[in-house]
Amino acid sequence: MITVKLNGIFPFVSQQEVDALAPELAAAHDALADKTCAGGEYTGWLTLPYDYDREEFACIEQAAADIRKHSKVLVVVGIGGSYLGARAVIELLHSPNYNLMADTQIFFAGCNLSADALDELTQIIGERDWCINVISKSGTTTEPAVAFRYLRAKLREKYGDNANKRIYATTDKQRGALKQLADSEGYETFVIPDDIGGRFSVLTAVGLLPIAVSGANIKALMQGAQQAAAVLDIRDMSNPAWQYAAGRNALLRKGKTIEVLGCYQPHFRMMVEWWKQLFGESEGKDGKGIFPAGLELTADLHSMGQYMQDGMRNVMETTVALGQSRAEVTLQIEQGDGDGLNFLAGMTLDEINEKAFQGTYLAHIDGGVPNMIIEVPKRGEENLGALIYFYELACGLSGLLLGVNPFDQPGVEDYKKNMFALLGKPGFEARRAALESRL
Ligand code: PA5
Repeated sequence: MITVKLNGIFPFVSQQEVDALAPELAAAHDALADKTCAGGEYTGWLTLPYDYDREEFACIEQAAADIRKHSKVLVVVGIGGSYLGARAVIELLHSPNYNLMADTQIFFAGCNLSADALDELTQIIGERDWCINVISKSGTTTEPAVAFRYLRAKLREKYGDNANKRIYATTDKQRGALKQLADSEGYETFVIPDDIGGRFSVLTAVGLLPIAVSGANIKALMQGAQQAAAVLDIRDMSNPAWQYAAGRNALLRKGKTIEVLGCYQPHFRMMVEWWKQLFGESEGKDGKGIFPAGLELTADLHSMGQYMQDGMRNVMETTVALGQSRAEVTLQIEQGDGDGLNFLAGMTLDEINEKAFQGTYLAHIDGGVPNMIIEVPKRGEENLGALIYFYELACGLSGLLLGVNPFDQPGVEDYKKNMFALLGKPGFEARRAALESRL
């Protein structure tokens, strides 16, 4: 199970200050569970691990098997919550180099508006068999819609009338342009439940189909989340999600406005991106929030280490410890000791990495950065399902502690309106004139 260690924050806040948040957490947890909190209609993720559609789950497994059989490349088209979770899970469970080792490669498109990225992708696919999983809860998001229009034309060029059999759409059960298109073109569709927002949707078909295509065990992922849902339902300070939410909020109240999440395994890099969206979009509103940032360790000790040690002291740090590596690499003794590393001979890379972690942890605390540790027993489906659920619950609790609605994202609309106006979308004429006069 997931454990949280808060020892490294106590030079900066007291245990009493953390524990004093228990009544607020109890109220927040109850309000999430009975859906009376702000945004309570989007708390379906709370019961999802034991309350999901088993029939659809079987269809996801079947579709993944079909994709693996008939395609060498799957292109996942989506942005934000409709892509980060799947990519993060695939990279953590397999590798950031997954595509270099996979039978069916998985690429992500529609998460930018880059012509070069789309063009490169079609060149990489080349003459190989491929298919598309287009994902959008609203069905109207510009970036994936643009990429999907381009890519489905390419698919039609190759497969003609059979192209539609190679398109899987994951979207709302009834609303949005993508749902209409899927119905009229006969794509196989998967449903994003009404009560689960984009950034909380990785354990729905949004994440599960691409993850299953990667060969990961999605049943074990759901089992891990289910176990976490039971354990993390405890309504007191022994709950690790409470501890994490309390720790970061107590530190925020002491002026630590930035949280930096890091891990000493490069496999975790995209999980940091997923976490940044989860917390940034859930908490950053109404002039409030903890700014989420990330480190890949030890690499970033040689780029951001200086700032962490010595920069402005408004930073807190959280490190995810992923347990033992799958591989064991031991440093050998070398005649002559030309590089001066014989003092490490006989040690495993895990042991060296652990010392780097411990040394950094203590140095950063000494430098004025409070540190929290989240321990995950090892890198695998069940633990990852548990970690995802842990973060989702901690995020809901933490957002409510901050006094915001953790489940909306009104701020995302402003850039969209400007972009539509500047692109000349009908209905945005007045805004366009006002914006163009400012450019
Ligand atoms: O969490 C959210 O709701 C957002 O980040 C969405 O996931 C993102 O904007 C993509 O939206 P959609 O899935 O509707 O295309």
